[in-house]
Amino acid sequence: MYRSSSAWPPTRWSFARSARDRRRPTERINQVAAAVSGHWRRYGFGWRVIVPKGAQEPVGIVMLNYLGEGTARLDPGEFEIGWWLLPAMWRLGLATEAAAAICSEAFGRVRAPSVVARVQPENRDSATVAARLGMAHEFDTTERFGEPVSVYRLVAPELVGRAS
Ligand SMILES: CC(C)(COP(=O)(O)OP(=O)(O)OC[C@H]1O[C@@H](n2cnc3c(N)ncnc32)[C@H](O)[C@@H]1OP(=O)(O)O)[C@@H](O)C(=O)NCCC(=O)NCCS
Repeated sequence: MYRSSSAWPPTRWSFARSARDRRRPTERINQVAAAVSGHWRRYGFGWRVIVPKGAQEPVGIVMLNYLGEGTARLDPGEFEIGWWLLPAMWRLGLATEAAAAICSEAFGRVRAPSVVARVQPENRDSATVAARLGMAHEFDTTERFGEPVSVYRLVAPELVGRAS
């Protein structure tokens, strides 16, 4: 259903940007693409494109990456998942299907003990995806510039019920 990041055409995508991010869109896209490719090379996992069955073109992205710095109360070494679809592809179940697949990869091949998702409190559709995956709301915190964010977590099935 989804392919590796090598099929990802970064110049055709736009990203939600922080209002404080003053970089030009092309500059930001190139930096994100370099970071995503670098993450794949360094760690052997990363972002993947979502390609519906029978289609040729990507319609979204599903992410698996180390969280990195900037979120209060969260370790930069946490495994983070995320999802993004073209608006025309919303309400088809694609995000949940792709996110479930990336969780399988995270808990299987990558051996992540758990994954977190950061969701802006007003993003109900994204919170619903997290809930459909079985993620539990852990706490609310802030991002680098003080933006509020809710943290959801899913523990690897074999570790559920064990003390951390
Ligand atoms: C967040 C986002 C990915 C959610 O997309 P979505 O299409 O609503 O999510 P899903 O793939 O889980 O689809 C679920 C919907 O598809 C419907 N659906 C239709 N056919 C389905 C099927 N075969 N299987 C499952 N669900 C199906 C469900 O009923 C549900 O609709 P509802 O909420 O109206 O009941 C999308 O809104 C998005 O890309 N937003 C912009 C980027 C973003 O905010 N990313 C997250 C940052 S934290």
